[in-house]
Amino acid sequence: MTLLPFTADLVLTGGTVVTSKSRLRADVAIKDGLIVLVGDASAMPAAVEVVDVSGKFILPGAIDVHVHFREPGYTHKEDWQTGSAAAAMGGTTTVFEMPNTHPPTRSVTELRQKQQAAEKSHVDYGIYGLLAEDNIGELQGLIDGGVNAFKCFMGNTFGNLPSPSTGAMLEGFEIIAPSGLRISLHAETASIMAWRQKRLMEAGRNDPLAHIAARPAIVAAEAVSRAAELAEWTGARVHVLHISSAAELRPLADAKARGVEITGETCPCYLLLDSRDYARLGSVIRVNPPVREHSDSLAIWKALQSGVVDMIATDHAPHTPTEKNKAVIWEADCGFPGVETQMPLLLNEVASGRITLEHYVKISAENPARAFGLWPAKGRIEAGAHADIAVVDMERTETIRAANLQSRGKVTPFDGVHVTGVPIHTLVRGRFVQRDRQLVADTSGWGRQVTDIQRMPPANVRNADQTLAAVLQSPVPLPQGAAT
Ligand code: DOR
Ligand code: ZN
Repeated sequence: MTLLPFTADLVLTGGTVVTSKSRLRADVAIKDGLIVLVGDASAMPAAVEVVDVSGKFILPGAIDVHVHFREPGYTHKEDWQTGSAAAAMGGTTTVFEMPNTHPPTRSVTELRQKQQAAEKSHVDYGIYGLLAEDNIGELQGLIDGGVNAFKCFMGNTFGNLPSPSTGAMLEGFEIIAPSGLRISLHAETASIMAWRQKRLMEAGRNDPLAHIAARPAIVAAEAVSRAAELAEWTGARVHVLHISSAAELRPLADAKARGVEITGETCPCYLLLDSRDYARLGSVIRVNPPVREHSDSLAIWKALQSGVVDMIATDHAPHTPTEKNKAVIWEADCGFPGVETQMPLLLNEVASGRITLEHYVKISAENPARAFGLWPAKGRIEAGAHADIAVVDMERTETIRAANLQSRGKVTPFDGVHVTGVPIHTLVRGRFVQRDRQLVADTSGWGRQVTDIQRMPPANVRNADQTLAAVLQSPVPLPQGAAT
């Protein structure tokens, strides 16, 4: 130690830093919330605190672009304190939160309400604005007011926000495209699902597998294709949420090959569960889109390896036991908490050799940071970046216990699963929010919105002369021969 002219707040010593390409034995020095140095122990500055992480791995904290924290409106399921505590416990340092709260985040007034609720957050966050049929006039205000992305429910799900017509979607895309902000899609086509669910209900089907039958993979494939066409036409950036099927991978890969600005995520349940689990889990497994066949999981794993699927997210969607445990499948609320279990579940796959730790860093942190404009401030362990860190013990084993989750939603299909590989510390901008598997309670309120660091590159807007706004503004040509 050291002749450097400053004292660090914290040095993590003895660990192995993991990037998307390599791993390196290195210490990490942190000051004022930033990583200031990554290097040999002998190069480290003096520090207020030195924490020994020998034998552990230092990863960028996970960036989960798909969580539902339910506040305002459904705080019996979750709120920003409990949801973000779950993130902190799970090694997740930034979340993007969905607009299907009550009220939904569909105007600036409602965005301000969401921002106020989010002030309790333990971790950093982005806030989604809604793109719906009835708020097209609010979209520009939401952009100017500081949303970090948009969410479009092409299919109905919890909250029953009506899905916009393709016409309304196109106008929405036209308005959002110039901002460069990404539009995340619940890509399931509502009309197909409504028709099939009605027919299944008429036929008396109430069993868990009827949920898959109501939403076959064509609902996703059709929605992805249609959204990709609109994105290509307008130049809007889009993101396919919760990829659940082999069938939607083709339109996604095709769109990428054509240069459409499209990314995709999958969630642990689509990788680790399949139709064989419905008998065991019953209505607990009900989620939109549904967990499908083993062949779908295998195809999604492959697409995650090849880069067709860019990232892992969780669709963290807590509900109460009463809302989940129903004999009639149509009555069970859809989804389950996930933000706390994603990292252990995926590290367990690293431990078993299915993916590398480097690839995990890419899909959990680097790719989401790049797609949502947080790169280079977040998503990497390098000097200059935010000190958003998950320290991971790849030898530690744990059993996931629903009852112990920080989330208010205690119903998960992963209850009882044994994992190897656990985040033992989580730091958000240099501050421990989870330490030695304990939540640091007084960090509620430490999280902040990422608006200040988000930099979406300019979008390649197309067909601007044909947008509804352009057409409505241009003078109407006089009929031929009319008097002037
Ligand atoms: O199963 C789901 N639940 N899928 C979604 O897209 C929404 C979520 C919720 O908010 O409960
Ligand atoms: Zn969701």
